[in-house]
Amino acid sequence: MKRTGSPTFHVDPDGVGWIIFSDPDRSLNVLTEAVMLRFGETVDEARAAAREGRAKVVVIQSGKPDSFIAGADVEAIASVEDPGEAETKIRLGQGIYNEVGTLAVPTVAAIHGLCVGGGVEVALACDYRVVSDAKGTTLNLPEVQLGILPAWGGTTRLPRLIGLQAALDMLLTGRRVDARKAKRIGLASRVFPAELFEQKTREFALAIASDPTLGTPKKRKLLTRALDDTGIGRRIVLRAARKKVMATTGGHYPAPLRILDVLAENLGRTVEESLAAEARAAAELVVSPVCKNLVHVFQMREAARKRRLDEGDDPPRAVAVLGVLGAGVMGGGIGQLAAYNDVRVYMKDIRHDAVSGGLQHARSLFDSAVRRRKMSRREADQHMEKIAGGIDFHGLSAADVVVEAIVEKVGVKQAVLRETEGYVRDDCVLATNTSSLSVSEVAEALERPDRFCGMHFFNPVHRMPLVEVIRGARTSDDTIATVYGLALRLGKVPVVVGDGPGFLVNRILGPYLNEAGFLLGDGATIAEIDRVAKEFGMPMGPLRLIDEVGIDISRHAGASLHAALGSRLAPSPVLLALGGTGRLGRKGGSGFYTYENGREKGIDETIYAALGSVLPPPREIAAAEIRDRLIIAMINEAARVLEDGIVAAAEDVDLAMIMGTGFPPFRGGLLRFADTLHPRGLLDSVRALRDACGDRYTPAPVIERLAAADQGFYEAFPRAVA
Ligand code: NAI
Repeated sequence: MKRTGSPTFHVDPDGVGWIIFSDPDRSLNVLTEAVMLRFGETVDEARAAAREGRAKVVVIQSGKPDSFIAGADVEAIASVEDPGEAETKIRLGQGIYNEVGTLAVPTVAAIHGLCVGGGVEVALACDYRVVSDAKGTTLNLPEVQLGILPAWGGTTRLPRLIGLQAALDMLLTGRRVDARKAKRIGLASRVFPAELFEQKTREFALAIASDPTLGTPKKRKLLTRALDDTGIGRRIVLRAARKKVMATTGGHYPAPLRILDVLAENLGRTVEESLAAEARAAAELVVSPVCKNLVHVFQMREAARKRRLDEGDDPPRAVAVLGVLGAGVMGGGIGQLAAYNDVRVYMKDIRHDAVSGGLQHARSLFDSAVRRRKMSRREADQHMEKIAGGIDFHGLSAADVVVEAIVEKVGVKQAVLRETEGYVRDDCVLATNTSSLSVSEVAEALERPDRFCGMHFFNPVHRMPLVEVIRGARTSDDTIATVYGLALRLGKVPVVVGDGPGFLVNRILGPYLNEAGFLLGDGATIAEIDRVAKEFGMPMGPLRLIDEVGIDISRHAGASLHAALGSRLAPSPVLLALGGTGRLGRKGGSGFYTYENGREKGIDETIYAALGSVLPPPREIAAAEIRDRLIIAMINEAARVLEDGIVAAAEDVDLAMIMGTGFPPFRGGLLRFADTLHPRGLLDSVRALRDACGDRYTPAPVIERLAAADQGFYEAFPRAVA
C-alpha cells in the first residue's frame, strides 16, 4: 500500500488542532486504506497534542475547495470477498473513529461541500458539526444504495444523535441533506455562511474550547421523542419502515432490511455492542451478490460520467444555448430539462399554439417541483426565463446544439433539418430525437452530416435517466463528444450506440414486449405475466409498460422492428388484435389496465372478451416459464446487439437497460444476469425455448460461440481500455 500524506495534523498558535484531509492524488478525498491508516496516525498526534496541552480543540476539515470527504473507497468494497476480512477492516475503521470520539478535547467537523458516507461518519464521531450554507454542501449516507450499511459508526451514532425517525430517513434512502435540513434535524450544530466559513469555524472552535456546552443541540419535539425514545414508539416506527421498504423494493434488497434489524436490536445496547453488530451485518452484506451488483452499477455510472470521448485536442463544446425543433411532448420536456440545468433554450414549432403548449408543459413541470418543495417559486421563474419559443428559425442562430423532436417522418425531418442548417452557425451540432428512423438516412439530406447524430431521450424526459447518443455513418467524433457532454450537463446518463433498428433499448425491449403478447395468446393471464416480471424486479410488468408507452406507439415500434429485423420480431397475434380494440393504453384511459385521470385502477377484465378470438381459455403457465420466456427474449436480442456492433461492451447494454427501462439494478444488468446462467446453461435454455415456442428463439450466434468457448458476455465483450 502506498503511503499518503493526507490527512495532516498541525496545531495553530491559538491552540486549535487541525486534521486536514487533502489528497494530492485525487480530486475528492476518498477514505482509502492508506488514508485511513494516516487518519489513525493524525488522531494519535492530536491525542498527544491534547494531552500535552498544546491543542485545546480539534477541528477536522478538508483542504479541497468544494468538498469534505467523498466516502469510502468503492474499489475496496467491490473487491472484498471474505466476510471475516471485511469485518476486521471495518472494526479497524471503527477503532479510529472511536479514537476521535474519545479525544480529551472537544472535536469539530467543519463541512463545506460534499460530505458522503464515511465522511458523514467522521462528522458523527466528532462532538460538533459545523456546516457551510453553500448550495453544494450536502450530507448523505449512500451505503444502502450500494447494498451495505454505514458501518464506521453511522448506523450506531446517527439515531443516537438525531433520533430514530430522522436517522431512518437518511439510512434507508441515502438521500442528501442540505445545510438547512441538517440543522433542523440536529445533524449540524451550526450553519455558517460559506464566505465566512473558515473564520466562523475558528471562532466556534475557540468558543467551545472554553465552554463545551455552547454547541448543545436543541431538544426534539415531544411527539418525536415519544416515538424515537420509547420501546413501543420505536417498534411502531420500525414496523412502518419495514412495510414501506417491502413495498418499494419487493424484498429484493437485503441492505435496508438489515439496517432495520440492526437498529431494532441495537438501540437498547451500548455503543460498543452496537458497533460490533453493525460491523458484522455490513461484513455479511458486503460480500453478497446484491452488493456486488449495485457496486457494479455505481461503477458503470461513474465511468459513463467520467468518460472523455475527446481524446484529441478539441474539448467537446460547452453548450450555452440549445435549440429545440418541435415543442410537443418530447420537445417541451427537453426544453424544460435544459432550462432546469441552466442552458438557454429556443423552442421552434410550426404553430403558435404548439409553442405555447411546449412552454406550458415546461411550466407545469417547474410548478410541480415547487409544489414538492424541490425549488422555490423564484427559482422556477428564473429557470422559465431561460426558455423562449417561436415559429421562425432566427431564434436558432445562437444555438450550440439543436435537437429535433418533430413528427417521426424521415422526409419531414430531412427537410426541416436541412432548412435549419441555413440558420445556425457552421459549427452548430444538430441531433435528432428519433426513436425509429435511421440517423444515417436522415443525415443524407444534410450539408454537414458530420455535425449530426442521434440524441434519443426517453419519455418522460425529466424522469428517465438514459440518453442514447447515436453515431450515424458520417457523424464525427467531435459531434459525439459534444452531444455526450450535453447529456451529462443535463444530468443524464449517456450511452453511445450505433445506428441500427430501435438502437439499443427499444430493440431489446421489442422481443420482451412481444413475448408478453405470445404468453397471453398461450393462455397466461395479464396479472400473472406482469406479476412474474415484477417479481423478477422489473419496475412494472410488460403489459403495463405497453399501456404506459401507448398501445399505438408500441405497435408502431414493433412493426418497424419487424420490418427491419425480420420474422423473429413478427408481432404476436394478441398485439396485432389489440389494434382493433381502439385502446390506447394509459393516455386513452384503457388498455390492459383501466386508468382514471392517468392513474391505474387495476386490470381491465373486459379486454379478454375484446381479444376473444385470439385468446384461448386461460391456463396455468409456470412462473418459471413466463420468466424465462420474457428475460431470455431480451438476452438473445442483446447478444445480437453486440454482434451487430451497436455497442462494443456488455456493460453498455447493462447500463442502458438499467437507466432506460429500470431493469433491476440489484441484478447488476441484463448481461450480468445472463452470465450467472453460465454460457452452456444459457444456450440450453434458449434452445429449449426454440423447441417449445419456435424460431423466434433461435439462439443468437454470439450465444452459441460463448457456449463453445465457455465464456461469459463480460469476458467476451469487455470495455476497451482507452
Ligand atoms: P408530438 O407530436 O408531441 O410533437 C411534435 C411537435 O413537432 C408538434 O408540436 C408539431 O407541431 C411539431 N412539428 C411538426 N412539424 C414541425 C416542423 N416542421 N417544425 C417544427 N415543429 C414541427 O411528438 P413527440 O411525441 O414529442 O415526438 C417527437 C419525436 O420524438 C419523434 O421523432 C418521436 O419518434 C420521438 N420520440 C418520442 C417519444 C415518445 O414517447 N413520445 C420517445 C422518444 C422519442
